[in-house]
Amino acid sequence: MPRERATVTCRVCDGTVHEFLDLGRQPLSDAFREPDCDTKEFFFRLAVGQCESCTMVQLTESVPRDKMFHEDYPYHSSGSAGMREHFSGAARRFLATELAAPDPFIVEMGCNDGVMLSTIHQAGVRHLGFEPSGRVAELARTKGVRVLTEFFEDSTAARIREAEGPAQVIFAANTMCHIPYPNSIFRGVDALLAPDGVFVFEDPYLGDLVEKTSFDQIYDEHFFLFSAHSVRAMAEHYGFELVDVERLPVHGGEIRYTLARTSRRTPSAAVADLLAEEDARRLSDMETLRGFAAGVMRVRDDLVALLRRLRTEGSSVVAYGATAKSATVTNFCDIGPELVSYVCDSTPAKQHRMTPGKHIPVRPPTAFRDPYPDYALLFAWNHADEIMANEQEFRRSGGRWISYVPNVRVL
Ligand code: SAM
Ligand code: TMP
Ligand code: ZN
Repeated sequence: MPRERATVTCRVCDGTVHEFLDLGRQPLSDAFREPDCDTKEFFFRLAVGQCESCTMVQLTESVPRDKMFHEDYPYHSSGSAGMREHFSGAARRFLATELAAPDPFIVEMGCNDGVMLSTIHQAGVRHLGFEPSGRVAELARTKGVRVLTEFFEDSTAARIREAEGPAQVIFAANTMCHIPYPNSIFRGVDALLAPDGVFVFEDPYLGDLVEKTSFDQIYDEHFFLFSAHSVRAMAEHYGFELVDVERLPVHGGEIRYTLARTSRRTPSAAVADLLAEEDARRLSDMETLRGFAAGVMRVRDDLVALLRRLRTEGSSVVAYGATAKSATVTNFCDIGPELVSYVCDSTPAKQHRMTPGKHIPVRPPTAFRDPYPDYALLFAWNHADEIMANEQEFRRSGGRWISYVPNVRVL
């Protein structure tokens, strides 16, 4: 008899979470292995559900944070020119608006290699980054950024409030959705944020996931998949208000949410507009989420069929971008080195290692040209313009890109 699954409760409101997609047994998405590594690989069950009370979409199982964010965390935010430009723009906007008063203070959780705070530092503005992953925190320090190698949470935030005073801005990019302990985070924000300050975070948007069937946005680190509805409910649960939303083109479609303490700011029209849009497309309906899950199975079947056909025909196939996202694709679709010979990636910390779970070798981009393959599966599809611009010669030499977002096709 199948074992009955324990009821999963919502990390925000304690409501009941109903599962709608099971992506199976998955490794840590950023655990790139040395070729001679013989330690047992960590796996967990990757499944997604929705809270029936607050609509928050979330994983049904979480991975302990120290397994994901540690000295060897390999992701470098500054690895893409597009993202460097995106974050210097965000910093310049903060400097011109929220940080324009005398002696402002901005805190970032998950500052990584200082991609955003380096612009703040250059402007001479008081700042502090929380970054538990030691090696990337050290990279930020080399750019002059002040960093604590610690997790942002209630106790660490309260300590900084005591020592350094309130922050006008608390910022988090691609980090809030990584944190399955919002109670502690919001206690920390409440302690550290100035009375009129803003808590701004940007993360992949559930609306884009559903529209593009981009199921590879679901992995260990992406615990929450936010929408305007669920973030509004989360803000209210913790005594905050959603006062602005902005759609961002980065990472396949994100939203920048601005929260303020309740009744401190007038919500922008963009909030009501996005809530209405989500209502119109029934984004929070279980039926919509089940439809997304059915689309995921179609993409998997189409992708595996294409890769098997190309292999049978004798074509060479490699992949481009050893993204955390690709761990979900390779492990869910059972794609190993027999279908994709290697993955090229510009990140030194990933090169000459093997991808988590399926053990596809990771090579530097120079390997891509030596010689060019017939096909390249674009795992870093969110950086498509940048990568295709850098690799124009691949197409000229007769190579073809393969994409699976929003559907499987040869470009
Ligand atoms: N903000 C960067 C960006 O958008 O490219 C980095 C995003 S990276 C995907 C997530 C980062 O959050 C990692 O560097 C990780 O170490 C950090 N992180 C995870 N939990 C955190 C927490 N509780 N406080 C501060 N940083 C955290
Ligand atoms: P991300 O989608 O999580 O930002 O990861 C992108 C990955 O792709 C990261 O490992 C760096 C890699 N990459 C390249 O190899 N070449 C490139 O030109 C870009 C933009 C990214
Ligand atoms: Zn809930």
